Amino acid sequence: MRYALWNYLHRANSNKQQARMMARHWLGNAWMKRNVGIDRPDIMSSSTNIDYRELRLRMRRGCTPTYMSRVSHCAFFLPRVFSSCRRYLGTRVEERSPLVVEGGTTSIGDGVKQTRELKESIEAQQKHVNTLELFGQTYVRDEWTNIPTMVMDKLGRNLHNQKHHPLWLLKERIKDYFYREFTGRCHKPLFSVHDTISPVVTTQQNFDSLLVPPDHPSRYHGESYYLNAKHLLRAHTSAHQRELVSTGLDAFLLVGDVYRRDTVDRSHFPVFHQVEGLRLFSSEQLFASVTGSGPAGLDLFEAGTRTTSKQESHSLEAAHLVASNLQHTLKGLIHFLFGTSVETRWVPCTFPFTHPSFELEIKFNNTWLEVLGCGVTEQKILHAAGAGDRIGWAFGLGLERLAMVLFSIPDIRLFWSNDECFSEQFKVDDIHQSICFKPLSPYPPLINDLSFWIPSGESFDDRDFYELVRTIAGELVQEVKLIDKYTQPGSGRHSRCYRLVYRHAERTLTKGEVDLVHRAIGSAVETQLGVKGRF
Ligand code: DAH
Repeated sequence: MRYALWNYLHRANSNKQQARMMARHWLGNAWMKRNVGIDRPDIMSSSTNIDYRELRLRMRRGCTPTYMSRVSHCAFFLPRVFSSCRRYLGTRVEERSPLVVEGGTTSIGDGVKQTRELKESIEAQQKHVNTLELFGQTYVRDEWTNIPTMVMDKLGRNLHNQKHHPLWLLKERIKDYFYREFTGRCHKPLFSVHDTISPVVTTQQNFDSLLVPPDHPSRYHGESYYLNAKHLLRAHTSAHQRELVSTGLDAFLLVGDVYRRDTVDRSHFPVFHQVEGLRLFSSEQLFASVTGSGPAGLDLFEAGTRTTSKQESHSLEAAHLVASNLQHTLKGLIHFLFGTSVETRWVPCTFPFTHPSFELEIKFNNTWLEVLGCGVTEQKILHAAGAGDRIGWAFGLGLERLAMVLFSIPDIRLFWSNDECFSEQFKVDDIHQSICFKPLSPYPPLINDLSFWIPSGESFDDRDFYELVRTIAGELVQEVKLIDKYTQPGSGRHSRCYRLVYRHAERTLTKGEVDLVHRAIGSAVETQLGVKGRF
């Protein structure tokens, strides 16, 4: 390649002295001395055979670093070289031809290739640094971006959709209430359920669509998790009200994870789950068939201050009916979940998206606990969603708080536990089965399996095994479960494998003491239950 370059310089430059100078500058004194200083007719005379294409390619992409630095020093000369190349070759130059070094171990292209790869990787890194990738979408970061890894890690966990998780269980109970109580034509459930909507929303959805004023504190940067100035992780499921109503739905439940910047303690966590409910009525439906529980709580309704005309008094009456229906529905839900003996009360409050607005509180351990917010949906929101002149109510309920009360879960962080001993406690066949959570030991579990053969023809009762384990290991064993069953084809004898979870409530168990107990159980099953150990 250097020969070719030298040839080019020499041939193209009428001033041979200058050509030599340039060549020395580009190609180095040593090379010139070695190759040009001596008589090399093969090089010097081959000017007609210069492979300009190769030359051009190598100059652009395939140079050793030293050579490249020379080239860059002589940058003023390069355009001339390239334009000459182009004159000879035209613009159709194959860019991807393989590059080989004359006699070197380094590919001529390495310097440039490495630079290019480095540039690409820096660009990729910068892209990564400058953007957020969520659910297959890319969001450009800006000064609003404030999502920590701890929160990112929770995205997509969808606890409310994990079968047997307590939040799933509560969701199923709530669904069951709405399915049972409210049916439409042909006994079809009136409420549709939506529980897979992405938590990434726009500020328009989270705030504007709900008439949250521009200076409302809930918009503060410190209140929510922003992907950038325009997108955030929904701070409430109400963010989807408008879009669902605009699809033509009249009654729906929406379940999802919501995100608020919060401290982490027993009852607060930056990610929690809400159920949003909304129901709309046409005026005919409302006056014809709506069932209400009478005027309960309606003294909260600021009636007298609003009504003058006949039309207004009609809409006020409609709003009364809606509020009454709302309260009836939600009280029904709480009674369904907690039994009718639970004490409840309505507390007036304000939300930008409802009027009137209430919170429902239940009495738990002698203190009032707020469990949901609700109200009669602002007409403006419904209009904007294309609901015409229908009128309706909506509520938003926090699942964690209710589940903590319902299942006696003492700490909100437990919902995120991967400990099987947590999830196991919620594995019930009937979603309405009552569950009282047993606190987990803070000490680590030790897990040992035990397998044995049951002689063919012999019967084996699991309960005998559990009993034996309990007698020998006592408090040390937290859980025993059958994990495998197998029948040997020839002999017909059965094998069983049990998993024993050893865990103490007050201290960390050592492997030594657990092994001892485990071996004792192993020999006891053989002597007392007549099986043959596979250990
Ligand atoms: N979005 C409210 C919150 O997260 C709860 C709420 C209140 C939802 C009133 C509603 C509603 O749908 O109408 O605190």
